[in-house]
Amino acid sequence: MTLSTSTRKPEQILSLRGIGKKFGAVRALTNVDMDVYAGEVVAIVGDNGAGKSTLVKILAGVHPPDGGTIHFFGEEQTLATPTDARDLGIATVFQDLALSDSLDVVSNLWLGRELTRSGVLDEVEMEQRSWSLLRELNARVPSVRTPVASLSGGQRQTVAIARSLIGQPSVVILDEPTAALGIAQTAEVLNLIERLRERGLGVILISHNLADVLAVADRIVVLRLGRNNGDFRAADATSEKIIAAITGATDHGMSRRAAEKASPDATPTSKEPEL
Ligand SMILES: Nc1ncnc2c1ncn2[C@@H]1O[C@H](COP(=O)(O)OP(=O)(O)OP(=O)(O)O)[C@@H](O)[C@H]1O
Ligand SMILES: [Mg+2]
Repeated sequence: MTLSTSTRKPEQILSLRGIGKKFGAVRALTNVDMDVYAGEVVAIVGDNGAGKSTLVKILAGVHPPDGGTIHFFGEEQTLATPTDARDLGIATVFQDLALSDSLDVVSNLWLGRELTRSGVLDEVEMEQRSWSLLRELNARVPSVRTPVASLSGGQRQTVAIARSLIGQPSVVILDEPTAALGIAQTAEVLNLIERLRERGLGVILISHNLADVLAVADRIVVLRLGRNNGDFRAADATSEKIIAAITGATDHGMSRRAAEKASPDATPTSKEPEL
């Protein structure tokens, strides 16, 4: 239903070039590039304060960038508001999920986009479409009439991801989707991410968990101190290489000269990411 069942050729969905963002004196992002293709899971990793959330918020239309360009299917776009981003086809699942606990799964999925028939809510249609969406995602939710307050962390994450698909986006951004989950629930969410990829969506995954990243990502983009510091194909990546890029032990972004100038930062000072 809400998902395209056609298999699209890998096509560039998003292309970011030279993205910069300052908050007062803090340079959160400097000259960041990133591409996302259809049917690709791109993980963004980096230490605390590396700029991951800022980049996501720019793509979600929450913060305007100070500089750089965003192309979406080859056309330059300005994402001035969250509605702009959503209408364009960029869906974001923020870490707090923003679910309404007292409402059931159907109501959460369709919140703000309710289907109506002759001016009244079409509960039957919404319920049927909810079931078929969750089935397509192989999601394990006991009943779509359960209040989300009674669901497990993994099920809540699933509902939040399913909700993001209602608007038929081309890109889904997931901010730390497994951070609060146990082993089995994490596996379910990683499976769900694979379903999204199979559907031809571009998936941007923010995660501190390198095991998850290596399990599911096709490409891994490393940010360090607000700059690109590595873009690895998952097939070539190891956790050692990624950690070295995260901590700055290896330099994959700055030119040599810039790196020398920035030598006070050249030693790894960051806390080790979780594994
Ligand atoms: N709204 C804001 N106002 C001021 N500074 C901000 C704001 N948002 C982010 N920053 C700063 O920008 C930098 C990048 O922060 P960001 O939240 O993007 O990092 P992150 O990679 O998501 O970190 P974490 O892993 O801790 O979530 C940090 O120095 C942060 O303090
Ligand atoms: Mg963050």
